[in-house]
Amino acid sequence: MIIDFLLKATPGVQGLQPYIPGKPVEELQRELGLAHIVKLASNENPLGPSPLGKAAAAGELDGLNWYPDDVGYRLKQKLAERYGLAFEQITLGAGSSDVIDMVARSFLGPGRNAVYAAHSFAMYAIYSRAAGAEGRVAPALPPDGDMPYGHDLDAMAALIDDDTRVVFIANPNNPTGTWLDADALHAFIESVPPDVVVVLDEAYTEYVSRPGFPDGVAWLQDFPNLIVTRTFSKIYGLAALRVGYGLASAELTAVINRVRHPFNVNSVALAAAEAALDDSDFIARSVANNDAGMAQYLAAFEEMGLESIPSVGNFVCVDVVRPGAEVFEEMLRLGVIVRPVGNYDLPNHLRITIGTPAENETCIAALKQCLS
Ligand SMILES: Cc1ncc(COP(=O)(O)O)c(C=O)c1O
Repeated sequence: MIIDFLLKATPGVQGLQPYIPGKPVEELQRELGLAHIVKLASNENPLGPSPLGKAAAAGELDGLNWYPDDVGYRLKQKLAERYGLAFEQITLGAGSSDVIDMVARSFLGPGRNAVYAAHSFAMYAIYSRAAGAEGRVAPALPPDGDMPYGHDLDAMAALIDDDTRVVFIANPNNPTGTWLDADALHAFIESVPPDVVVVLDEAYTEYVSRPGFPDGVAWLQDFPNLIVTRTFSKIYGLAALRVGYGLASAELTAVINRVRHPFNVNSVALAAAEAALDDSDFIARSVANNDAGMAQYLAAFEEMGLESIPSVGNFVCVDVVRPGAEVFEEMLRLGVIVRPVGNYDLPNHLRITIGTPAENETCIAALKQCLS
């Protein structure tokens, strides 16, 4: 008997499209047999892992027979000190996406809805719908405005009703790189009903050198319904280890930890993350590399007559004036992996992660060749 398991899945899961990750280097190597491949597709740190994090990870390998510390005591303690928060305000996740999922599983379900912006991180929709809730997508700001494709906070506010339980905001946003300024964001959070959870996703915040850029952590004392999520996957260069965290009121933290999977953060990740927090040298080098790389791309786009979306992240979305999926395929043949973003309703854009200067050169040359 052949069973159609999709029909047996919950209605939320039936309507899902799985997350599309960046194409792995090994996969392209297998397909095309290319020796040298540049991957600028998943907003990873091109400088490698934090050296302090890497050394600490190596030091954990003899203990792989033990389950990790389920509480994550040392990492939480360090985060608490760093942010001036109580231990009870911290949730550790297998990546920040795990924390975002915990919020969805705790507060969303049939008859409830979550509000998020168009062109924002794909997992908000996936986790909301998987939990059985309605995902309400607020149209983005217009492409020809001050913040093209950015979050439209008024449009988001207009979608909130009595059944809204969670609002997701990414600042900066992925894949656009757009951002919200402190006054507007604070006023928006203030306007959200206090029983609606606001997830402020700050996965890329460490890259932002813009003066006055909001720091959601400073607002936790004002908003018991706010959770700020951050990650070690991006600037700390530890994406493979899967470790991130959420900061919130102790009350909200206690609720979402009810659905946390036991031992969700492994011991190698815990040790690496704890050490990486001290790696201020590496962070400074990563920011400098990113700023220089962004300038390199913007100059190239200008020369090529291409428009990009203003970004403060470690990536930039460029309008290639053709279906992005086609240009992506052509660039693959030249050994460069970028990210088509048609699934984010940006069919003519490609999202490019800022790499090393040499990687950026290779990517720019490939883009020129494909668009000539
Ligand atoms: C906006 C945003 N939030 C969260 C994440 C999740 O990252 P991780 O689960 O690796 O912490 C990503 C990853 O790309 C992201 O772009």
